[in-house]
Amino acid sequence: MPVHDVVIVGGGGAGLRAAIAVTETDPSLEVALVSKVYPMRSHTVAAEGGAAAVIKDHDSFENHIFDTISGGDWLVDQDAIELFVNEAPNELVQLEHWGCPWSREPDGKVAVRPFGGMKKERTWYAADKTGFHMLHSLFQTSLKYPGIVPYDEWFATTLLIHDGRCQGVAALEQRTGRVEVIAGRSVIICTGGAGKVYPFTTNGAIKTGDGMSMAYRAGVPLKDMEFVQYHPTGLPGTGILITEAARGEGGILVNSDGYRYLQDYNLGQPLDVSDSNHPVKKSMELGPRDRLSQAFIHEQRKGRTIKGKFGDVVYLDVRHLGEKIIDQKIPFVRELASKYAGIDPVHEPIPVRPVLHYFMGGIDTDKTGSTSLPGLYAAGEVACVSINGANRLGSNSLTELLVFGARAGRAAAQFALEQSPTELAPLRKQVVDEDERITKSYLTKEGGTERISTIRTEMRDTMEDGAGIYRSEEGLKNTCNKLAELRDRFSNISLDDRSLTYNTELISVLELDAMLDVAEAVAHSARARKESRGSHQRTDHPVRDDDSYLMHSMAYKGDGAPKIDYKDVVITRWPPGERVYGQEQAE
Ligand code: FUM
Repeated sequence: MPVHDVVIVGGGGAGLRAAIAVTETDPSLEVALVSKVYPMRSHTVAAEGGAAAVIKDHDSFENHIFDTISGGDWLVDQDAIELFVNEAPNELVQLEHWGCPWSREPDGKVAVRPFGGMKKERTWYAADKTGFHMLHSLFQTSLKYPGIVPYDEWFATTLLIHDGRCQGVAALEQRTGRVEVIAGRSVIICTGGAGKVYPFTTNGAIKTGDGMSMAYRAGVPLKDMEFVQYHPTGLPGTGILITEAARGEGGILVNSDGYRYLQDYNLGQPLDVSDSNHPVKKSMELGPRDRLSQAFIHEQRKGRTIKGKFGDVVYLDVRHLGEKIIDQKIPFVRELASKYAGIDPVHEPIPVRPVLHYFMGGIDTDKTGSTSLPGLYAAGEVACVSINGANRLGSNSLTELLVFGARAGRAAAQFALEQSPTELAPLRKQVVDEDERITKSYLTKEGGTERISTIRTEMRDTMEDGAGIYRSEEGLKNTCNKLAELRDRFSNISLDDRSLTYNTELISVLELDAMLDVAEAVAHSARARKESRGSHQRTDHPVRDDDSYLMHSMAYKGDGAPKIDYKDVVITRWPPGERVYGQEQAE
């Protein structure tokens, strides 16, 4: 295989943005873009509502920074969020120059919509197919750089480390089953999150935490893994996202009595929307996602949710917006609701429930995307730069993958330029070992009695039971024990398919291996954090405890359970305060 300069694992928004940044840093650099699916099938394509950046006169960088810090319950690194907010508008303008059709106001200016936890509307959008348009713009731009070499449908299985630095990956070509070296003088992981660790998720089937697990196994810590976000409005059954944009445009949430129950939870923001007739001025539906998902659980306990075929739901009602606005602003909501729930939101309310949406935690990186392993970088949802803290605000993540994808690309390019040429022989030796491991563990192994699907289902159920929206010592202990049992049983898995060509069963077992790593990091980090903060709510420790836990958790892979350590949060100008929404804030 050819030796490249920079290897990027993951062909979604962050990976493509990083690849462009590498080649723009130095056009002579060659980038291997390794993706387990064709880049246009990466999960970025499923993002709907929009990307946040300050553009309107009545907004300010200070507002965006403060909303994010407070939304993240003060676990946000303030130096990182400051530079993110500063660089965000340029990235979105750059994307327009690359072809992204941002929706416009009637006067031609960029349109923005309100999103949860914001005091001013600042979410740029392309109707409600923002991720689709962003991914197309990035992909078509990447095609003009001959230095970007695609490895489509290659599954990276392990990092290659030699001479104390990361110098590539071993990857399995799905078409042939061969395992090869893909070498480079630096590596960027951009493989997204791991929603598939949970049973109900907005995430695509590919989001199985492969990149997080690769870094974790190489000794790089996973930071703040206990903070996983439930999006309050997923479709029951499939988990498909019904975008927050539906509420940003004026949709309301009602319980079984037809009552706007969020008024009982003191939520929402007194939004300072420039248009005084905007339907969401002071909307309770635009509280932060953690609080909205928690409110659903309270309604469920009070018996005020609606029993559906796939469990309890509440209703998202957009009928009052009218067909014209629905078709203009949220056409995809209409399409998804009719295809996957069989209802037309112009005439009926949409059944919704909280579903796992996003990992705030991930591979510990600094502001350039660099990790504790020299030569290894990460960007996008797979990484934790610490701009999302304990709860991400909707629409910050699409911007994050641009800002930090670009930063990681530039830093990895610079690192590559400073290294001596790659020596292939020691990397080849590691790949021979990796090939043998995969063959012996799965392809030629006889006598295993466990099934992939059984272990995967049990893992997902125990994560939902013990490490879901509300947690407790007892529940987390059970989940940690169950995960240890599943890890044990995993070594007794047997595959039916021993072929080499598009062996999807083999890919599933490699993905499950990664998901078990991610699951244990989440559950153990959650068990160790004996406080409630953002999306991590402990019924046995219901109060935020800054004295003991204003810190990032760091999960290190151990022989058995992970080792959990802590690292300071960067506080610069915004001292820890209370998160205040709804009436309290208005008063
Ligand atoms: O609801 C949404 O459109 C999700 C956006 C996000 O997670 O940023």
